[in-house]
Amino acid sequence: RYCNFVSRIFRVMKGKSLKDYFGKARKEKWALAQFNVSCAEQLQGVVEAGAETKSPLLIGTSEGDANFFTPSLAVDLVAFWRKETGLPIFLNFDHGKSFEVLERAAKAGYDALHFDGSKLPLEENINIAKRIVVLARKHRISVVEGEFSEVPGGHSDLHDEVAPVLTGQDYTDPQEALDFVKKSGVDSLAIMVGTLHGIFKTTQPLNIQRLQEISERGIEFLVLHGGSGTPGQELRAAIQKGVVKINVSTDLRVAFTNTLKETLRENPAEIAPYNLLPKSVAAVKQVALTWIAVVGSASKI
Ligand code: 13P
Repeated sequence: RYCNFVSRIFRVMKGKSLKDYFGKARKEKWALAQFNVSCAEQLQGVVEAGAETKSPLLIGTSEGDANFFTPSLAVDLVAFWRKETGLPIFLNFDHGKSFEVLERAAKAGYDALHFDGSKLPLEENINIAKRIVVLARKHRISVVEGEFSEVPGGHSDLHDEVAPVLTGQDYTDPQEALDFVKKSGVDSLAIMVGTLHGIFKTTQPLNIQRLQEISERGIEFLVLHGGSGTPGQELRAAIQKGVVKINVSTDLRVAFTNTLKETLRENPAEIAPYNLLPKSVAAVKQVALTWIAVVGSASKI
């Protein structure tokens, strides 16, 4: 833990923080894709895409990803790739549902924390978010992301149904968003303007008008979850209105797992992981390259 803390201070002194990159992205109108991964091979594919395009990288782990990885291994692997490639690579804990979970992540050495209190009563959400901001500052973590309006869709999965029909109340309310950020002190806010977790049988346009209204309130850093399955031109329009981070998980899961299934089908007798996994790493890299092009983060290091 002490080593992780010292290494983070060293990183902060040496280079730009994630918050600095958000500032640069907002000013120059591009965004960081947050690539959610749960194993070293998915991470490798993303890193190869970042190295090829000279893109800063933001890696995410959900609670499920982190439990499989173990948080400190995720931290150590990101530190390894940071050293190996010289790229700015940051690690965010995605959808942490409690103070305790995010405290463990902070102690393990994560660079950013997302507190998802959207299922809690608003006051409780704000109170815990405030405590997490204090915790983050103690650990020199530059970004705490808050959330109060839930992004529908459930898991990062392939949903065998059409996208749910959204009504006015489903979208983040601009004034509530501003109040939440002011009261909690979070650095960035996950908002709901039409993206959905996972990939559905249909896509739908984003509510760019609502996004504009939220942006006009002056919230510095806006975040979209549910990147997979959202048309690129919709996301580019959202970036023009101030979105600095777009989360991506399902696309990377599909690329990794479907390729692995195919490799296993084609090579039923093969048992060496080093022969079975490279195609999956390459498939993840291709998906990450596509996303880097969508959000415009190439050559922004
Ligand atoms: P997708 O699985 O739809 O890309 O969403 C990922 C996400 O928002 C994780 O927080």
